Amino acid sequence: MGSHPTGPAPFWVGTNSTFILYKSSQALCSNLNKFLYTCGIMNTSKVRGLDKNILKVEKMKVLAINGSPRKTWNTATMLNKALEGATSEGAKTEITHLYDLNFKGCTSCFACKLKGGKSYGECAYKDELTPVLKKIREIDGLILGSPIYIGTITGEMKKFLERLIYPYMVMDPSHSSLFPKKIQVGFIYTMGANEIRQKEMGIDPYIRLNEMILGRIFGASESIVAIDTSQFEDYTKYVSSFSVSAWEEKSKIRKEVFPLDCEKAYQMGVKFAKKTLTQNKHES
Ligand SMILES: Cc1cc2nc3c(=O)[nH]c(=O)nc-3n(C[C@H](O)[C@H](O)[C@H](O)COP(=O)(O)O)c2cc1C
Repeated sequence: MGSHPTGPAPFWVGTNSTFILYKSSQALCSNLNKFLYTCGIMNTSKVRGLDKNILKVEKMKVLAINGSPRKTWNTATMLNKALEGATSEGAKTEITHLYDLNFKGCTSCFACKLKGGKSYGECAYKDELTPVLKKIREIDGLILGSPIYIGTITGEMKKFLERLIYPYMVMDPSHSSLFPKKIQVGFIYTMGANEIRQKEMGIDPYIRLNEMILGRIFGASESIVAIDTSQFEDYTKYVSSFSVSAWEEKSKIRKEVFPLDCEKAYQMGVKFAKKTLTQNKHES
């Protein structure tokens, strides 16, 4: 960061994602939103007052959470596509791989529910998930991703959701939320089953339930489900009773359908970023 300006005109210093505007007069401060909007800066940024003389402009932030142990396959690919979409609208993005972290699910300590407790509304358990939970309070968009393992999300994603959601849930009839703001939340599910098997497994009601809970806590929630995904590049190497033509069909789906799922994910990222901009404009 540069030193404090001495001249009369405002100027910018900083990195790609953060700029510090040193204002030259109180008049500029009161007209700052108009000024930034005119410069096109409000198209990608949110203004936060720091003190009387310095104002910080931050890009919107979108975080993806990968609940798959694989960092380059179906779920991670779709999450990265969603982040690409958000980036195309000016967001700062990041992906966290849950399988890199050593953490537990909710331990039922209830510190987050204790009247007058210092951890009320926050997860009191400290481990490698703690910085991630903290970061989520600062972001504008959250995109979760999990493969379906034995009919539900992976164990790591389940543990993460327990720690993320439960502290913000108020035990009242109107399902109040303690999360400090409204953010966009998306959930990308990937699964090997085709449409018929997916219905038989009854996964859809579970996905809707997650959508409802996340919507109540964070304000807005939606889902993308990619079915019939491939588990491997070459199915002939693995033991199976399926015919070669069945595997060829799978490979065709990967080439022709999966890119469409990725496009849906990309559009989710674009939409989240655009919604955040609209929200920020109304707030400023
Ligand atoms: C342990 C395990 C359990 C699975 N269980 C299911 C299942 O119940 N239903 C299903 O449709 N696919 C199931 N699958 C397939 C994965 O959900 C699917 O291949 C997914 O896209 C993998 O995501 P990834 O490529 O991001 O790892 C399972 C895979 C594994 C490894």
